[in-house]
Amino acid sequence: MFLVTGATGELGRRIVRESRLKNLPVRAFVRLISDYAELSHRGAEVFIGDLKRERDIEKAMKGIQFVISAHGGDSEALDYRANIDLIDAAQSEGVQHFVFISVLGVDRGYEDAPTFKAKREVEKYLQASGLNYTILRPSGFASNLLPLAEQFRRTGVYLLVGDPRSRTSIVSPDDLARIAIASVDLEAARNQSLAIGGSEILERQDVPKILGRIFNREPVMINPPLFAFDAVRNLIGVVSSDGKESLGTLRALLANEFYLTPAETARIESIYGFKLETLEAFLRRYLSI
Ligand SMILES: NC(=O)c1ccc[n+]([C@@H]2O[C@H](COP(=O)([O-])OP(=O)(O)OC[C@H]3O[C@@H](n4cnc5c(N)ncnc54)[C@H](OP(=O)(O)O)[C@@H]3O)[C@@H](O)[C@H]2O)c1
Repeated sequence: MFLVTGATGELGRRIVRESRLKNLPVRAFVRLISDYAELSHRGAEVFIGDLKRERDIEKAMKGIQFVISAHGGDSEALDYRANIDLIDAAQSEGVQHFVFISVLGVDRGYEDAPTFKAKREVEKYLQASGLNYTILRPSGFASNLLPLAEQFRRTGVYLLVGDPRSRTSIVSPDDLARIAIASVDLEAARNQSLAIGGSEILERQDVPKILGRIFNREPVMINPPLFAFDAVRNLIGVVSSDGKESLGTLRALLANEFYLTPAETARIESIYGFKLETLEAFLRRYLSI
């Protein structure tokens, strides 16, 4: 039995769908307030709880062989504490394999980015735990672009903050879901930390060009510089230091490059035995074009 946290999220629900398509038993950890009807219709066992409660995590772990931690949120309570509690509970239960969804660039020491810091600490804790593990470090998800694509469809406008030439390997969350599930069975993925991206290195300015091709319209790119973002962030800091701090992760994402080298891409495709999807293919699939 798999335990999937964040099972109603962009990635988690794809992990649940994919595991049910493969007829694998899966327990979906969800909050009472979440929309989890689809998960039970697909045959997942639904566990209602709150990842901020250690007791709920211990209960959810009963009888579990494989954990996929795919939740996110508040960096201290969810990205850090809930994962530490999951790892402790997995150890007590004698779980066979723990898959942790981290983030690309987690090991670059971004001091001002709370999510990156929390995930790095969890990675170290998991590596020292003695559990079999796979740490997956994805780049940004292609699904994040779907609302922007819909806006582009209506207006032709694309907002890009920061350097339009910075490079990225946007990942299909469907590929990532397949990879997360397969990791528990593959010798080559055991006790590895793997960068996961799409099959190509794009510049961020390629995204509106791709949308222009898909919707057959000339893109209008609005491109505020990073210092404009910083000015807004500093203003927010005047009223809320927490608000400013949480925008630190977004700033790290906007200010840096997140792409896989061709060797890293080839390694993933060789371990998991399939070709990673391009951003254009993903968008065409979801936008039905
Ligand atoms: N999105 C990206 O581009 C990206 C890139 C790299 C890495 N990642 C990592 O990939 C993972 C999945 O990301 P995502 O975009 O799929 O996340 P998401 O869509 O934001 O989903 C977050 C999930 O966490 C659940 N959750 C939040 N608080 C909870 C609580 N107290 N108890 C139980 N569940 C709770 C949410 O449940 P509700 O439905 O109840 O809110 C939701 O299912 C995260 O670890 C994220 O850091 C994401």
